[in-house]
Amino acid sequence: MTYDVVVVGAGAAGLMCALTAGYAGRRVLVVDHANKAGKKILMSGGGRCNFTNLATTPKHFTSANPSFCISALKRYRPEHFVELVERHGVEYVEKTPGQLFCATSAKEIVALLLTECEWAGVTVQLKTRIDRVERQGEGMRLVTSSGKVEAGAVVVASGGLSIPSMGASGFGYDIARQFGIEVMPTRPGLVPFTLSDPWKTRAAELSGLSLPVAVSCQGKRFEEPLLFTHRGLSGPAMLQISSAWQPGESLEIDLLPGESVFEQLCLARRETPKRQLATWLGERFPKRLAQALLGWYPEPNLAGGTLAECSNATLQAWAERLNQWQIKPAGTEGWRTAEVTLGGVDTDAISSRTFEVKALPQLRFIGEVLDVTGELGGYNFQWAWASGVACGSSI
Ligand code: FDA
Repeated sequence: MTYDVVVVGAGAAGLMCALTAGYAGRRVLVVDHANKAGKKILMSGGGRCNFTNLATTPKHFTSANPSFCISALKRYRPEHFVELVERHGVEYVEKTPGQLFCATSAKEIVALLLTECEWAGVTVQLKTRIDRVERQGEGMRLVTSSGKVEAGAVVVASGGLSIPSMGASGFGYDIARQFGIEVMPTRPGLVPFTLSDPWKTRAAELSGLSLPVAVSCQGKRFEEPLLFTHRGLSGPAMLQISSAWQPGESLEIDLLPGESVFEQLCLARRETPKRQLATWLGERFPKRLAQALLGWYPEPNLAGGTLAECSNATLQAWAERLNQWQIKPAGTEGWRTAEVTLGGVDTDAISSRTFEVKALPQLRFIGEVLDVTGELGGYNFQWAWASGVACGSSI
């Protein structure tokens, strides 16, 4: 069989690229080894798919080459995808400012993409293994479990390594290396942290409790909720900072962002000296956490526990614990639960306009397989759509 374009990967980027190329009159085949298209879309956003973020700018992405994403993101903006969603009558809600989710189900986004592919004349072939990709004259040849396919161009949209049970594989990295393209070291991103004891047990005791915090690491700072889990720390704040964190580093967590604990405690001691420290904590934190804090940091010198008994040094110590809580994760939950892959195909080898390999234009890479990773909040899908359109419209 011969096609103008063969896209490997029926995920967000692959389907978007395929339908764009199809509408441009190309004969397009999408192949995927999974039994369903868009599995990650289906599981995204808790089944509601946070399909874009209206505030998307390049600063929401991490890459060894931070300017690589600018061109595609500028040309295909969140409003373009919203327009597509509206055209298909998919209802959506803005949960947190800028973050758009399906009102009903992520299935509607997959249905939208597959419908557009059908209208654009794209063939989608699932349950197909790709055994080899080779250069063939000016084009490419693929050897698949259902036979040989010749193509003017091959687009690798096989995603990253997260959630192997959903079909993730290192296919794209292997193809890149086969053609002499560097692959930046990969690691899980947007992933919960694990802790070792005693913090693991302490977190487990608070499992399910969530509170707003500000977390910092490696010059990055996020103000979002933290969630205690049975194995450590999760919630948007932890997922976000996990992409900046390196093994062995500590996180600094401000449990009362926007409040100077030392100043507030000094004021409280002056104005209400008989008030207990426990009461002060109980006014600011959920009861379970306030009690846990007192257990983690017992104050042997406070017989009655009143603020009047607290020395400046004691108040300073509490200020550090609450405004600059230092915690060193044991690790992360890894690929099993990570939402994205940091690192990937080196963008220096790729054109930021067309996504073709500069040294081999009949081969292209788009989406998460590239060394471009978005923050939490719909940015990763926006990258998938934008890179898919940039590639599909220029192929
Ligand atoms: P994607 O992974 O979507 O698709 C790759 C395709 O290639 C898959 O269909 C796979 O089966 C196929 N494939 C892989 N290896 C192959 C091989 N060897 N042969 C053939 N086919 C192969 N982002 C966001 O913006 N908002 C959100 O709400 C969420 N939520 C979310 C939740 C969870 C649990 C996860 C794991 C991830 C998210 N994400 C997200 C991230 C988002 O899902 C991700 O960035 C995009 O799906 C990436 O799109 P791609 O098309 O690049 O890869």
